[in-house]
Amino acid sequence: MKMKKIFSMAATGILSISLLAACGANSGGESAESGGSAEAVSLRLAHNQPEDHPVHTSLMELSKLTEENSDGNAKIEVFPNGQLGQERDVIELVKSGTLDMAKVSASALEAFDSNYAIFSLPYVFQSKEHYHHVMDNSEAVQEIFQGTKDDGYVAIGWYDAGQRSIYTADKKVESPADMSGMKIRVQESPTSISMIEAMGGAPTPMSYGEVYTSLQQGVIDGAENNETALTNSKHGEVAKAYSYTEHQYVPDVLIVSTNMWDKLSEDQQKAIQDAAAASSESHKDVWKTAIEESIKTSEDMGVTFYTIDKQAFIDAAAPLHETFKADNETNAKYFEDFQSHLE
Ligand code: GCU
Repeated sequence: MKMKKIFSMAATGILSISLLAACGANSGGESAESGGSAEAVSLRLAHNQPEDHPVHTSLMELSKLTEENSDGNAKIEVFPNGQLGQERDVIELVKSGTLDMAKVSASALEAFDSNYAIFSLPYVFQSKEHYHHVMDNSEAVQEIFQGTKDDGYVAIGWYDAGQRSIYTADKKVESPADMSGMKIRVQESPTSISMIEAMGGAPTPMSYGEVYTSLQQGVIDGAENNETALTNSKHGEVAKAYSYTEHQYVPDVLIVSTNMWDKLSEDQQKAIQDAAAASSESHKDVWKTAIEESIKTSEDMGVTFYTIDKQAFIDAAAPLHETFKADNETNAKYFEDFQSHLE
């Protein structure tokens, strides 16, 4: 804990200095409203995946396209591997304007803005097509993405992060009864905590960076994530049974500090926004291929994938939908909006 704080403070210090330099360079340019030729900016973007992860590939594409679209007037430098902190840390850095951008899971954002809860609601998306359609077209998503402006950040794009399922050291999970007494790591999201309770397990929230060691040491009995957790994050070395509960599709979200965003010219904003949209689109294929490879690699690591009948889990999670909708009108409106995208 202490180490984390010190690290976080050090990261804040380094970033503040570099951001000040960037602001200095930018201040000579025309104002954002003019859409004119603001001076070149270089934005720092942090995320927690390794460099061989498909999301890193697509963030490098974002970086390349931003530079191209802006004729070099806007650049994005990507810092992978959680080197600037875990998701909670980098969200705080972006909110305070110390870091320009981050790619984080929508579940991590729920601790900062309760409107993000809907993305963690189990089985809120009924298929990949439904999920993609909502993420690309829904007004509710745009409202949630823009809704945090006064809180220091906005979301300007999303990346497919697949479906999440339960994996354990060696136990196949076929029904909520199988989860009884099992400590399952979840993201630091209140909805994900309630989800594991409803699915019969004992939720253990922790940051992603702690999961491998916790599995290895038996602090937790299992976790839940997409297949890249087994390979890119090596969890398949210590967890050998992956059961397709497919309980969530939680998007990865690209956030940018309001402070920095408002300093950019309209042209720079558009260059980044277009790059985000294009890299989100191309990421869908990048992701699909990566998952196919991940499954093969995991099997070579000795992981068994179990296809199960999900109905008992869907039924167990259903009351969460009712509680969510009954909680407030905004929730009910967003829920209805998501469902309206079912084809
Ligand atoms: C996914 C997601 C990460 C997140 C992780 C987690 O891998 O892409 O951003 O940190 O889930 O379970 O914490």
